[in-house]
Amino acid sequence: MTAPARANPNDHGTPYADAVSGNAAQDLLRLNVPGHSADHGSAPELMDYFGADVLKKDVSPLLTGIDKGPGNAYDRSVVLAAQAWGARRTWFLTNGASQANRMGALALGAFGQADQPVLVQRSAHSSFIDGIILAGLTPVFLQPVLDDRYGIAHGVAPAELERTLAETDNPKGVYVVTPSYFGAVSDVPALAGIAHAAGVPLMVDEAWGAHFGFHPQLPQNALSHGADLVVSSTHKLGGSLTQSAMLHLADGPFADALEPLVQRAFMLTMSTSESALLIASLDIARNSLQNGQARIGASIAAAERIRQRIRDGGRFTIVSDSWSPQEAVAVDPLRISVDVRSAGLNGNAVREEMMLVDGVYTEISTDACIVAFLGPGFEPDGDRFVAALNRLEPSGRLAYAETHTLPLPRTGELRIRPRDAWFAPAVAVDAREAIGRVSADSLAAYPPGIPNVLPGEVISAEVVEFLQKVAASPGGYVRGARDSAVDTIRVVTL
Ligand SMILES: Cc1ncc(COP(=O)(O)O)c(C=O)c1O
Repeated sequence: MTAPARANPNDHGTPYADAVSGNAAQDLLRLNVPGHSADHGSAPELMDYFGADVLKKDVSPLLTGIDKGPGNAYDRSVVLAAQAWGARRTWFLTNGASQANRMGALALGAFGQADQPVLVQRSAHSSFIDGIILAGLTPVFLQPVLDDRYGIAHGVAPAELERTLAETDNPKGVYVVTPSYFGAVSDVPALAGIAHAAGVPLMVDEAWGAHFGFHPQLPQNALSHGADLVVSSTHKLGGSLTQSAMLHLADGPFADALEPLVQRAFMLTMSTSESALLIASLDIARNSLQNGQARIGASIAAAERIRQRIRDGGRFTIVSDSWSPQEAVAVDPLRISVDVRSAGLNGNAVREEMMLVDGVYTEISTDACIVAFLGPGFEPDGDRFVAALNRLEPSGRLAYAETHTLPLPRTGELRIRPRDAWFAPAVAVDAREAIGRVSADSLAAYPPGIPNVLPGEVISAEVVEFLQKVAASPGGYVRGARDSAVDTIRVVTL
C-alpha cells in the first residue's frame, strides 16, 4: 500500500475497484472484520439499508491481490491516478482533503529547519490551520484578493507573494488555495515561478478543482502549472464518495526532498483500516474523469445554458461575470454563482428556502449570492433550478436588508504561534470580554469554513460581531465555537 508511481503500460480501467468486486463475488466464509460479515443473518438492518453489494465490497485491508503483495491492485490504481493528474506520486486518502492538508503541513514542517516560516494564504481552509497547529509551523500570512461587493475572498495575487517573500526572513515554503469556492482560479504558473525563484516549494490546495485538466474547457490543474504538492478533494467535484481525496506530488525540483516526508506524514494521519468503498470510488472517479470528456462537455454546456437563462431573465446577475483578471485568471465553468441581492433577496435565506421548499440544493451562499455546482458529467434539470429562483419574492425573511451585509472582518495580529496558543491554558469568557485578548481556538464561519480567528490571534470587535451574525443567520454555523451563538470565546491566559 505504499508504492511510488511506477507505470505499468498494460494497466487501465479500475484495478482496485475490480479486485474488490471480484472478492465480493466469491463464495466466502467471512470470519474476519468488518463484523457485519457481509451476511444477511448477522447484519439485517445494515443489509436493508445499504444493500448486499455494498456490504460485500466493504472488505478489510491487507488482502493479497487487493492491497497486499507485489503488483497489487491498490498500488496499480494509485499509479493510474498519478498518471491521470500528472503527478510523480499520489496518495489515496480516506479522511478527506482535510487529511491532505494536515499531511502537507506536516511535510512542510519537516522540510528545512523547524523555525523557518511558511507563507500561508490567510483564507486557508480550517484543516490547513489544524495542520499548522499539528506541525508547529510559524505562518506568515499572504492576504487574498478580497471582493468587498460580495464579501468573498479570491486567491493570492503574484505581487502579494513577491512582496511577502521579500519581507520574510528565510522562508521554507508557500501555501495557497485555488480555485476558490466561487471558482476563481489564481495565477498558479506565476506563483510557482516566484516560489521557485525564491528556492521554496509551492503547495496548492486544489480541493475544489479535482476535475481540472480533464476537459479542454476546464482550467488546467495546478500540477501542470508548476505546483509541487497539490491537495485534491476528489469527492467534491471529482465524483468519488464523500471523504475520499488525494494528495499529489509533482515531479518538480523539491520532489526528492518532499516525497519521504509526505509518506511519513501519510503514515501519521491514515487509518489502518481504510475504507475499501472510498478507495474504490477514487479508482472509479479517476477512470470516469479520464474517459468522460463528452459527458463533462455536456455539463459545461448545461451550466452555461443555465447561466444564460438567468442573465436573460434580468432579475439576477452572475457573480463571476464581473471578475477582473486580477480577481481570477480563469473561472470554473461548472459553477453558477448567482447574485440574488440584485433581486432584493438574501442569499443565505434563499439557499435554505430552496432546499426546504423546492428540494433544490446549492453548495454555498453568502448574504448576497448562492453558488450552484455541477458535478462533471451531470446535466441537471435547469428548469427546476431557474423556476425555483424565479418564484422567490423579496419579502419577509427572504428580503435582503443592508444590515445583513457582512463584510469579511479584518484579521487580528498573530501574537502567539498557533500551536502554542492551541495548547496553552485558556478560559472561556463572554465574547465582549474576549475583545483585545488572544484566541485559543480557530473559529471559522460556515459556509465557507475559512477561519476568521486563529489560535494565537488577537480578537477584534469586528470579528466578534461577524461571527455572531453568521451564527444567527439561516444556515450559518461557526466551527470551533464553544456555543452555537458564539456568546463565549476561549482566550489564552498565559
Ligand atoms: C479549500 C478546502 N480545502 C480543504 C477542504 C477539506 O476537504 P474535505 O472536506 O475533503 O476534508 C475543504 C473543505 O471544504 C476546502 O474547502
